[in-house]
Amino acid sequence: MISEEIIRSRVERLFSEITFSDEPKGLYDPLRYMISIGGKRIRPTLCLTTYGLYNDDFTDEVLAAAEALEVFHTFTLIHDDIMDKSPLRRGQETVWTKWDSDHAILSGDAMCIDSYRRLSAVGPDILPEVLHLFSRTAALVCDGQQSDMDFESLDSVPMNQYMVMIARKTAVLLACSAQMGAVIARQSPMVGDTLYYYGYYLGLAFQIADDYLDTYGDECVFGKPIGGDIVNSKKTWLTVKAMEDGAEGLAEAMTLPSVTAQEKARKIAHVKEIYESVGVREKALEEIRKLTERALSEAGEVTSAAAYDTLRNFAHALVGRTF
Ligand code: IPE
Ligand code: IPE
Ligand code: MG
Ligand code: MG
Ligand code: MG
Repeated sequence: MISEEIIRSRVERLFSEITFSDEPKGLYDPLRYMISIGGKRIRPTLCLTTYGLYNDDFTDEVLAAAEALEVFHTFTLIHDDIMDKSPLRRGQETVWTKWDSDHAILSGDAMCIDSYRRLSAVGPDILPEVLHLFSRTAALVCDGQQSDMDFESLDSVPMNQYMVMIARKTAVLLACSAQMGAVIARQSPMVGDTLYYYGYYLGLAFQIADDYLDTYGDECVFGKPIGGDIVNSKKTWLTVKAMEDGAEGLAEAMTLPSVTAQEKARKIAHVKEIYESVGVREKALEEIRKLTERALSEAGEVTSAAAYDTLRNFAHALVGRTF
């Protein structure tokens, strides 16, 4: 097994040493910028963690896959920030605000392609399986992002449809990362599938935690402006649950103007009052706990006691920041 401490420091080194093409600068500077401003590196850490349950050392192929997962994720963030009109990412300016949307679109495309290039370094015996897993995941992320945008203009969204949307835009990439480690460790399909579902339920918990922190987090820790989802009238777990529980006036509050700083502050405060009236904050925390437990019950299916402890620590570190 590889220790959590060794994985953490290897991930840090991996992304401080990662290189991209030099020229044209307008295309590759945004890639260097996005990787250099940090991020939690959850997906590569998860891939190396599941791989490390069955190995004592890293190989070039698992490190290349870990890079590919983070590069792909970062590509989705560059494009997501255009779609969500977000000014801040990882505590710094977003690519579309620092450069412009044209640069953000093309740099994002280059980053997506770069992730496939890195992934193709895995051994020929597993390449078809790895590419199939990664491409299926990437397509689902696009499906989820489209639903996320479609939901913005709807008055209300049923909880089951919201869950399908976050499963696609977020959970499947964590699931893919967990399974990737097992595939590269040449584990059985049964182990791979079980770790996939561990990552999947953890990913659902993680997106609900992200929704929660967007309203109740601390901007310095979260790295994104608090209240952005309310300002943009996004359907989050909080809005969907509050609607389901009959919160009065939420649909109207979501249509309030939010152009000036004062309007934004008023809209955020009003929506938060409505959330409080139906206790949605506590309900979100309960849901995050339940989904994390579900992830851990999956993990308990295939792994040894020591491996289970590692997966439990990873889960708690991931969503523990919410509580
Ligand atoms: C942000 O992902 C997008 C979501 C799926 C919520 P992260 O919270 O993992 O972002 P970074 O990589 O740490 O910046
Ligand atoms: C992002 O969801 C999911 C993807 C990037 C695919 P969000 O829009 O909630 O992510 P943040 O809050 O901007 O990080
Ligand atoms: Mg988004
Ligand atoms: Mg966003
Ligand atoms: Mg968010």
